[in-house]
Amino acid sequence: MNIGLIGYGKMGRDIFALLFDKLADADITVLEIYGAEENTAAVIKTLDKGLRRKKLTQEQYDRKLGAFRFTDKAEDLKDCDLVIEAIFEDIGVKRSAFSRVADVVSDKCLLLTNTSSLSIPEIFENIPHKERCFGLHFFYPVKLSGFTELNILPENTAENIETALRLVSDCGKKPIVFTGKYHIYLNQILSCMVAHAIYLLDTLDVSVSELQAQFSELYPVADAFEVLDSIGLGLMSGDPDNFRISRNEGLLRYSCDKMNKWIAEGCPKEPGSFLGFIGERISDTGNNCDNAALSMTALILNETVNALEDSTENSPELLCEAVQDTLGIAESPAHYYNKYGAEALFAELDRLSAVSGFGSYQHKEKAVWDKYFL
Ligand SMILES: NC(=O)c1ccc[n+]([C@@H]2O[C@H](COP(=O)([O-])OP(=O)(O)OC[C@H]3O[C@@H](n4cnc5c(N)ncnc54)[C@H](O)[C@@H]3O)[C@@H](O)[C@H]2O)c1
Repeated sequence: MNIGLIGYGKMGRDIFALLFDKLADADITVLEIYGAEENTAAVIKTLDKGLRRKKLTQEQYDRKLGAFRFTDKAEDLKDCDLVIEAIFEDIGVKRSAFSRVADVVSDKCLLLTNTSSLSIPEIFENIPHKERCFGLHFFYPVKLSGFTELNILPENTAENIETALRLVSDCGKKPIVFTGKYHIYLNQILSCMVAHAIYLLDTLDVSVSELQAQFSELYPVADAFEVLDSIGLGLMSGDPDNFRISRNEGLLRYSCDKMNKWIAEGCPKEPGSFLGFIGERISDTGNNCDNAALSMTALILNETVNALEDSTENSPELLCEAVQDTLGIAESPAHYYNKYGAEALFAELDRLSAVSGFGSYQHKEKAVWDKYFL
């Protein structure tokens, strides 16, 4: 299979590493405007290391050495069976890259965008043969995430959906499918989680480290603030209108305004900058935030129930598993429902809703939660 990858930045590198590692028969052409020589040398260096450490046989090494190339010319993607785009989040640049690629590839070549927020129909607006156009959202770090979102368009054919799902499975990821306003849903619930952490930081008047101490059992690997730090304010503070589920508009706009304020005050937009910036800015206050883990759990479970009621593409089991994996919470949503109980979770949501007016905190009745979590 010939695979094209457009963009070799933070995500492009991770996606390349996954494809290169998992798809033994794939030939990968990377279209990137910078650094073809350096990037080629770095991949060869990794292969050399693999051979030395006996992670690769000589035969596998020889095969891999000829299975990739870097280019800055769209024409070099002409023989691709599918092309994955991982250019930075700019609809104009993504559109023009896909136009150039669509001009050279066959009408059957699948075109997949890794956008984390932009409208997928708008990215492909001017591309003919929409039955081959998809959103394919990998999470960072790609190696560690269990799920990849396949965001489908009404025009996609069953055959093309099948091919895209197989690609995800062959890469060792579980696919989950979303349509319409639920496109890139896992990233939307992740954004709500980060937004709620910011809301708690503000309203409880405590420091990030005080909240992190409360979150430690909920998140075994990376808590909501560490997620924000690893993605970076630049990407997380993008236009909240890009997210299309209206109940979350208020909370997402609130957090977006806050992040843009921090950027204006000097927080770098790049990944790895937030925790240092905020640690210097907000010190421990000693104020009570004992309820923070329950509050975060209430937000996550509530959003999950609302999604389960509203979007029917996935089984409740699959969506709950994907939420747990993507948000990095220690246990399943059902576990936390049993742990805290409906009464305590609803009391917190009612409090948040009354104070903020945000739709994200409005909840369905207990019978609906019981249906999914008991
Ligand atoms: N960063 C994350 O944590 C993350 C997570 C999931 C999804 N995403 C999405 O993945 C995409 C890529 O994000 P990123 O963080 O890797 O961006 P990035 O800025 O790190 O990398 C983008 C790369 O695209 C290259 N590029 C730009 N224009 C190009 C063109 N016309 N042709 C070829 N290459 C071009 C740039 O040189 C750069 O190397 C975005 O849509 C983003 O929303 C990012």
